Amino acid sequence: MLIGVLKETVAGEKRVALVPESLGKLKEVTVLVEKGAGESAGFADAAYQEKGATVVEREELLGKADVVLKVQPPTDTEVVGLKQGAMLISFLYPLDNLGVISKLLERKVTALAMELMPRISRAQSMDALSSQATISGYKAVLLAANTLPKLFPMRMTAAGTIPPAKVFVIGAGVAGLAAIAVARQLGAIVEAYDVRPAAKEQVESLKAKFVALQLETADAQTSGGYAKAQSEDFYLKQQQLMAEAIRSHAYDVIVTTASVPGKRAPQLITEEAVKGMRCGSVIVDLAGEQGGNCVLTEPGQDVVKHGVVIMSPVNLPSTMAPQASQLYSKNIITFLLAMLKDGALNLDTNDALVSGTMVTRDGILLHEAAKSALERS
Ligand code: NAI
Repeated sequence: MLIGVLKETVAGEKRVALVPESLGKLKEVTVLVEKGAGESAGFADAAYQEKGATVVEREELLGKADVVLKVQPPTDTEVVGLKQGAMLISFLYPLDNLGVISKLLERKVTALAMELMPRISRAQSMDALSSQATISGYKAVLLAANTLPKLFPMRMTAAGTIPPAKVFVIGAGVAGLAAIAVARQLGAIVEAYDVRPAAKEQVESLKAKFVALQLETADAQTSGGYAKAQSEDFYLKQQQLMAEAIRSHAYDVIVTTASVPGKRAPQLITEEAVKGMRCGSVIVDLAGEQGGNCVLTEPGQDVVKHGVVIMSPVNLPSTMAPQASQLYSKNIITFLLAMLKDGALNLDTNDALVSGTMVTRDGILLHEAAKSALERS
């Protein structure tokens, strides 16, 4: 079996799906790596060759590989170049990439989407959303600290005492918890909020204060642990309470990470709430790619509104490409090894890892929401 590692082509994407150190784990298979695939993540072609991979040009890889590994969803051209019936493992986001899904169906590609990996204990080491979100949370706090014209930690000097910065983290999932931990390590006072009641304990275990809003949240979580989309009335009330909390707590920095799978990110910070912040305060909105948690967010841009810097960085994991790639590589290799038997892939659809991630197979679309969306389009 031939496994191919493609070079990423999306602008700004520096990660690579497989790093050289992962190759030692793949026995009885041949690995082809596209020339320069790991370069922007700091992994030279020679490092792959030393571990037994063959470095080839893109056309050769696409034409030969039985399994293609990527980070970003493939482009139409990449899918068209794939071998008929090949397998693809990458982030896929089917609802945002219906054109690509149609092409995958035409080429009878079996596509497994890393973002659909079930959040079960057996799959923790394959959970690419978590591995990458940890990096986003870390980097968001560093961006805020670098932009805020204040120190994060308290400092007592002969010239006076500098109070610590106050950081508010909204959404205490993987990225939010990482942000809380880093902001605490930098010496800030950290408070956090999440709509899921279960998040309170996790926030407090990181020695941050949980901010409670007077909302009915008993039904806020799915059985899978994700936040549920709420009614318009709920969000309206949440916005009002949030604006009040932001005004009264005088935060210097807000890092927002709130998201609901498959939906637009909830709008939690209104213009009124931004007006309630001091000049020079910073908001880092990690939900920019899903529409933003702040109504004034401009995805991918840093803007100043009412004296507040609102940053919406995209693809933060790519800014830490060597380690983000190492983690992603570990996720993908563990997934592959779970399916590999005697040098061939055994796609057992009774296995939650396979059934949960499989989007297309043999020209059949298995992702229900994408199926409905394609039928409507
Ligand atoms: P996510 O990226 O989908 O959302 C981020 C956070 O936003 C979540 O904590 C969510 O509750 C919060 N949120 C959504 N709507 C909100 C609102 N209106 N107001 C405030 N906060 C809101 O979540 P992520 O980071 O992917 O984690 C989702 C869940 O999965 C969490 O419970 C996490 O602990 C759990 N998880 C479990 C794993 C496992 O067991 N293997 C691994 C990773 C995560």
